[in-house]
Amino acid sequence: MGSERITLLSSREIDKMRQAGHLAAELLEYLAPMVKPGVSTLEINDEAERWTQAKGARSAPLGYHGFPKSICTSVNEVICHGIPNAKEILQDGDIINIDVTPILNGYHGDCSRTFLVGNPSPDAKRLVEVTEKCLHLGIAEVKPGARIGDIGAAIQEYAEAQGFSVVRDFVGHGISHVFHTAPQVPHYGVRGKGKKLKPGMVFTIEPMINEGTHEAVVLEDGWTALTVDRKLSAQFEHTIAVTKDGVEILTLKN
Ligand code: MF3
Ligand code: CO
Ligand code: CO
Repeated sequence: MGSERITLLSSREIDKMRQAGHLAAELLEYLAPMVKPGVSTLEINDEAERWTQAKGARSAPLGYHGFPKSICTSVNEVICHGIPNAKEILQDGDIINIDVTPILNGYHGDCSRTFLVGNPSPDAKRLVEVTEKCLHLGIAEVKPGARIGDIGAAIQEYAEAQGFSVVRDFVGHGISHVFHTAPQVPHYGVRGKGKKLKPGMVFTIEPMINEGTHEAVVLEDGWTALTVDRKLSAQFEHTIAVTKDGVEILTLKN
């Protein structure tokens, strides 16, 4: 997938990605206690924007191809790119993905987690657990000489064995001083296929896993992506670097 060249980052650049990544992870950690029944997704957005500015960083989503807010908040059947809204009030039993991307000193840290609001159903909790495991199975494939297809294959095999489906329409991406660049990183695929991984490559892995069909539809707002069957979708994301002998997760707390 894609013939674009994949940039290899220097250790100096990876250090900046690590600093931005730490900030992104800290932001998610900071927002976590707000995720309670009764809070609006706009309140979470506004607190994220305030915190990001206080850290001397910027919110990459704000104004990105016209995206109107600072973070993405994707509740229940929303797969990704949900737009924070004052009228969207979290309720007991919801699941919500919060996706943050601060830019610090010119570099992007991109990560997301799906949070439980109150006490969701056992089925919803299992979807969220499986999706987090999919992210870590994908990351575990990353090392020099492995292929992009190995990542998607590991995720797809596990998700489908658990009775879930893998979203096709949105993929992981290269990231640096640019938000979205080569390579594209599908969360489905075939082992041994795709570009070979090399030290210095930096990209996200961000599986979106659905309870029902993998098919997505985008609302008239141009952003909000939903499951066509309106069943649940969950997502977890990290930004990672391919290292000399394996992988480093850049979006971890200090
Ligand atoms: N953070 C998202 C990703 O993982 C991208 C959001 S783009 C936006 O790639 F414009 F919707 F914010
Ligand atoms: Co991303
Ligand atoms: Co993201």
